[in-house]
Amino acid sequence: MLRLSHTLIAILLRVIVAYGAKWGYTNGESQWLQHYPYCAGPMQSPVDFKTGRLIFDASLRPIVLENYDLTGQGTLTLKNNGHSVLIVLPSKMSITGLPQRYTAAQLHIHWGSKTSPRGSEHTVNGKQYAAELHIVHYNSEKYPNVSMAFDKSDGLAVLGVFIEIGASSPGYENFLSHLSQIKTKSNTKTIPAFDISSLMPKRLDEYFRYDGSLTAPPCYQSVMWTVFKKPVTISHSQYDTLTATLLASPANHVTPVPLVNNFRNPRPIENRVVLTSFKQGVTTYMSATCILQRKAIIRQLLVGDVEEVIESGLLPQSATKLLYQGYTKTEHTGFTSSVKTSYDRLAKLQEITQPTLAFGSLLQQKSLEIKQSTTTKSLPVSLAEAVLPKLNLKSYLACKADVVPATIKFLLSGRPLVGEEDFFLLDPYLDSYTMHPWLVQREWED
Ligand SMILES: *[C@@H]1O[C@H](CO)[C@@H](O)[C@H](O)[C@H]1NC(C)=O
Repeated sequence: MLRLSHTLIAILLRVIVAYGAKWGYTNGESQWLQHYPYCAGPMQSPVDFKTGRLIFDASLRPIVLENYDLTGQGTLTLKNNGHSVLIVLPSKMSITGLPQRYTAAQLHIHWGSKTSPRGSEHTVNGKQYAAELHIVHYNSEKYPNVSMAFDKSDGLAVLGVFIEIGASSPGYENFLSHLSQIKTKSNTKTIPAFDISSLMPKRLDEYFRYDGSLTAPPCYQSVMWTVFKKPVTISHSQYDTLTATLLASPANHVTPVPLVNNFRNPRPIENRVVLTSFKQGVTTYMSATCILQRKAIIRQLLVGDVEEVIESGLLPQSATKLLYQGYTKTEHTGFTSSVKTSYDRLAKLQEITQPTLAFGSLLQQKSLEIKQSTTTKSLPVSLAEAVLPKLNLKSYLACKADVVPATIKFLLSGRPLVGEEDFFLLDPYLDSYTMHPWLVQREWED
């Protein structure tokens, strides 16, 4: 009996492990959530670019490609990973024109099927293109490699290119002609290096920009998205090659599974906005004061006077309501002052925020770090460093999203009782989040 149950447990464990490592497009995305909780997050990708949701941002500069032309420079690895066709990119390739330098890691494609040429992930007013190319880059000024960056809120920058059916593309032929040699999952093939920019539209100055996530598990909300407005074209027969050659299943699989419809449907935009680098069809304009106001609000929330924040009227109503509740609680129960050390405070925070936010493990880790740290950092700075990136305040501070009530609740409950001097300590930290061309340089404004 005992042996039987041991065997049973062993089998169950093996099933769970095998299952957890797998995800696909055929059984729907609801299954992703069971094993990849981030896929249910509030800043997921892709999204639908709706005209009424777009804000023109005059500070968005053209994307600048560096060392994209790899012609005659050795080989590239082409891979069928069971979810897409992927090309590993050399680290000499990078993009600038963004606040930081991002180094290329890989590219891959999402597509429909031979009979249904609708496979792009992002859509424009509901229009789905035939396919979509993603070129993945990581923030190489801050992280040593892509694996360190891909779960950080400022870790990745992905370029998205819509693909529609039309004129044939010599650029895409560079790898499509080798696709039949990586038919099954895990197959790889080296191909001659080519000019990666031949896969992209000519105009790199017209794009949509928003903060989002990986469009496949583990769905980390770590991507600054740049999706170019103008699509590129591939021919009908090139599209057929792309959609009807590869299998999602490995070579020895009993029933071959075609690799088709490997796209995720648009996720809710929630409280985010989509910025555009182009004016055409966009009625709302971004203002620089927004960024300064938001910085002031966060500073007040972390170390300042809550009443002032409430009276400013700059927060959404839902957030103000929460603020009132939290403020009353803090004043009357003396909760904040009774929690002396940062460790206790974070433990208390964890207790309060656990039901709404999945920051338990982060807090545990950070509270330990703060406890053991010998740095002279002030408490609000340590707190801010620990929680701000995970709260996606980056987007809020850059006026790319509204603040979520959960964030306000979290910040408020973490308010330490500290003096004026902390304002100055906190400033450089907040500045690193508001790194916006407007605050640095204004001469290109029109
Ligand atoms: C990425 O960098 C980290 C930290 O330097 C290192 O531990 C890890 O092995 C690196 N990963 C890869 C895939 O190079």
